[in-house]
Amino acid sequence: MAPAPDAPIDRTASHFLRACRGEPVERIPVWFMRQAGRSLPEYRAVRGEGSILQAIKDPELSATITRQPVERYGVDAAILYSDIVVPAEAIGFGVDVVPGVGPVIAEPFASAADLGRLRPLDPEADTPYVLDTVRLLVEQLDVPLIGFAGAPFTVASYLIEGRPSRTYAKTKALMHGDPALWAKLVDALADLALASLRSQVAAGASAVQLFDSWAGALSPDDYRRFVLPASAKVLEGIGETGVPRIHFGVGTGELLGLLGEAGADVVGVDWRVPLDVARARVGGRAVQGNLDPALCLAPLPVVEAATREVLRRGGGVGHVFNLGHGVLPETDPAVLERVVALVHDEGVALGAEGAAT
Ligand code: CP3
Repeated sequence: MAPAPDAPIDRTASHFLRACRGEPVERIPVWFMRQAGRSLPEYRAVRGEGSILQAIKDPELSATITRQPVERYGVDAAILYSDIVVPAEAIGFGVDVVPGVGPVIAEPFASAADLGRLRPLDPEADTPYVLDTVRLLVEQLDVPLIGFAGAPFTVASYLIEGRPSRTYAKTKALMHGDPALWAKLVDALADLALASLRSQVAAGASAVQLFDSWAGALSPDDYRRFVLPASAKVLEGIGETGVPRIHFGVGTGELLGLLGEAGADVVGVDWRVPLDVARARVGGRAVQGNLDPALCLAPLPVVEAATREVLRRGGGVGHVFNLGHGVLPETDPAVLERVVALVHDEGVALGAEGAAT
């Protein structure tokens, strides 16, 4: 994608975007999922009370929160401060995000009648605040901005379960019990995600991440049959814009090949699968990850050794350094500062020469 005519820097040349495309880089890029959030005192200072959904509706505040980790850590990419349930809330599905819990749905999706509650998203009318935040950030940032959406399965799991779930029992019962209804539901959610992502890219986002956080709850057969077609619709659709597409889930060791097949340029990997093993499973695509976020609570020498091991296993070319999932709220920001410095110092030779096998 061509940068805006008056863009202060050539974002297409960033380490992050080059690594996403599998091109050699001068150093390994790094950012952290959930880099903005409760682990940062400056976040807690500006966030205020109430639902995160209210904070997201304030573009100045959301842009400030998005920039905070970039300014503190010197990470190579910003990720929009928003949430995966924003489009569903914006079309009136009745969603809140309860602090310490997560998304809660007043009237969960239960039958064909509920399909009528999933009207198409008109991003300029329904989520103008998201696009205003993106536009502000594109002016303010000197690193690429990552836009994102929730993948159809993960969003469906919230809409059906009504709140975070450990078993996904209702979701799986619907998927297997009424495959035709399930297909309509995930197709509608694919359209929602795609409309949102297209609008974020049109407003200036340089890359996108599709979060299928809970896809690891599924067997490969179920993923292929019930989830892959809808996620592929999103990833293929956004592929037309030319921005790199990152596809991520937790506990997806057995699904990594399928996450790649769904149409990603970069496959996000949690901490359970070493990156060299993951790379063999994703068919030559770039990989993102995969320091265990819990290890960031261990003594610094442990974190440093684990960071070096991730760099080594990542193999250099086509590696975007990240955690295996989001930053835990109790993380000391000084630890993440050290991780960024270490990746930048020691990922120098790797990015240019490392063998992506
Ligand atoms: O820094 C970033 O990564 C960008 C911001 C971001 C948030 N949510 C902000 C947020 C992103 C990318 C998300 C995506 C998201 N939201 C996912 C996918 C990523 C993942 O973690 O796998 C999921 C599953 C959700 C749903 C959700 N929203 C959960 C499970 C929670 C946590 C509830 C809690 O309080 O522990 C939220 C709330 C939320 N989204 C917070 C933040 C910073 C914390 C609550 C707050 O500050 O109000």
